[in-house]
Amino acid sequence: MDSNAIRAKFGGDYIANERTFIMGIDQRFTAHFAERFRDLIVLETCTGAGFSTLALARAAKRVVSVELDPSHQRQAIHNVAQAGLSSRVSFIRGDILDPNLLGELPPVDAAFIDPDWAVTGPDHVYRFVQSNTRPPADILLSKIFERTDNVAIVLPPLLDVEELCGLPRHERERLYLGDSHELFCLYFGRLLLVSGETEFRVTTS
Ligand SMILES: C[S@@+](CC[C@H](N)C(=O)[O-])C[C@H]1O[C@@H](n2cnc3c(N)ncnc32)[C@H](O)[C@@H]1O
Repeated sequence: MDSNAIRAKFGGDYIANERTFIMGIDQRFTAHFAERFRDLIVLETCTGAGFSTLALARAAKRVVSVELDPSHQRQAIHNVAQAGLSSRVSFIRGDILDPNLLGELPPVDAAFIDPDWAVTGPDHVYRFVQSNTRPPADILLSKIFERTDNVAIVLPPLLDVEELCGLPRHERERLYLGDSHELFCLYFGRLLLVSGETEFRVTTS
């Protein structure tokens, strides 16, 4: 991967492959999300190459981050060490939906969820209900609610927001880079600032 592109998107001399680069969330968004986790103990799933982990580790008291793919996790461990943040992050490898893994997680104050929705193919349709993200966003969210009410979940922009109607009270934030709608983030529990739809826009020149 081009180190200039990595530096521009993630803010440092980190490692990524094509997949973890695309999946990784831009540093301007992760710094924004992380503010809501200040001084909390945070469960993060899923780690990827750790670009959201970096921002969470800078703000939170501690981060416990779960990832299924060993090569993604290796990149994340390297990147968090590169940023000098290793002492603030515990990495767990496994399937976040595995009841044994979930049952053994330490108590946390809040959770940050970023499932993999970078599924390719011309016929792909983004859904929340019976979600086709990996892991399925709807199932994952309900499992994480068993651990904490204070949850943020990142979802793709091409989503029919009507599908979110059955969820507990939440803030639905639209995140823009310039005029481009890049993501949704839903906030629940004490992470919610305003009930309803809000907007966060990074201005680009
Ligand atoms: C969108 S990426 C996370 C990107 C990360 N937040 C960042 O900003 O760099 C989603 C990650 O979820 C992982 N994943 C998929 N299914 C999982 C599961 N069942 N348990 C844990 N991690 C999983 C994928 O391997 C992938 O690395």
